Amino acid sequence: MKDIIIAIDGYSSCGKSTFAKAIAEKLGYTFIDTGAMYRAVTLYAMRHNLISGEGSVNREALTAALPLISIRLLRNAQGGGNNVFLNGEDVTEEIRLAGVSDNVSRVSELAPVREHLVAQQRAMGQSKAVVMDGRDIGTVVFPNAELKIFMTASPEIRAQRRYRELVEKGVKTSLQEVENNIRQRDAIDENRAVSPLRKADNAALLDNSNMSVAEQMEWALKLVTSTQS
Ligand code: DC
Repeated sequence: MKDIIIAIDGYSSCGKSTFAKAIAEKLGYTFIDTGAMYRAVTLYAMRHNLISGEGSVNREALTAALPLISIRLLRNAQGGGNNVFLNGEDVTEEIRLAGVSDNVSRVSELAPVREHLVAQQRAMGQSKAVVMDGRDIGTVVFPNAELKIFMTASPEIRAQRRYRELVEKGVKTSLQEVENNIRQRDAIDENRAVSPLRKADNAALLDNSNMSVAEQMEWALKLVTSTQS
């Protein structure tokens, strides 16, 4: 079986990370959550007052700071996910908080930020055997990835799933607030000038609105097997 790159793109909160992690685990591949990298840069910008109360980003200052931002993803032994380190500090939990979710689209639409992170992502995929999830993996980061999957689900279903996760973590929010955030992020991700979210022509479409994780895995593993042989 040859080692391949599996690019998984799609809308926010449609279970990309859970799905990508499960495939990586099954194949013994490295899982890379690129959204976590954009979130870590956003957290840095927030901590250094580079984002105003209205959400506008100080582009020049953030661009100048990029060489000072070191992001490392380490495999989390328990869940198979990524522990995220920002300049040596474990920020795995903090990058999931609402403040970061509210600002991350504004940071990830900046071309210098994307160039900086895409270069790191390409380096991580050099030796293949990776499952990378994000928004532009099949279109920009690895346009020649052997297998591309584009995931989607209805905004209502995504909001319900995300709301449940947040409540379990003890985060106070409402279903409406979560759905608004998802719709707003969809719009920004799809309409930004640089690397907008779109399905690569040769990506397989997975609408998991009414699919269990087990059903999604069965579907994906068939594709992996036919791609590898
Ligand atoms: O997957 P996520 O929701 O954690 O991603 C956070 C944000 O980062 C999301 O608003 C889109 C952006 N993102 C991106 O622009 N490109 C990627 N490859 C991954 C995420």
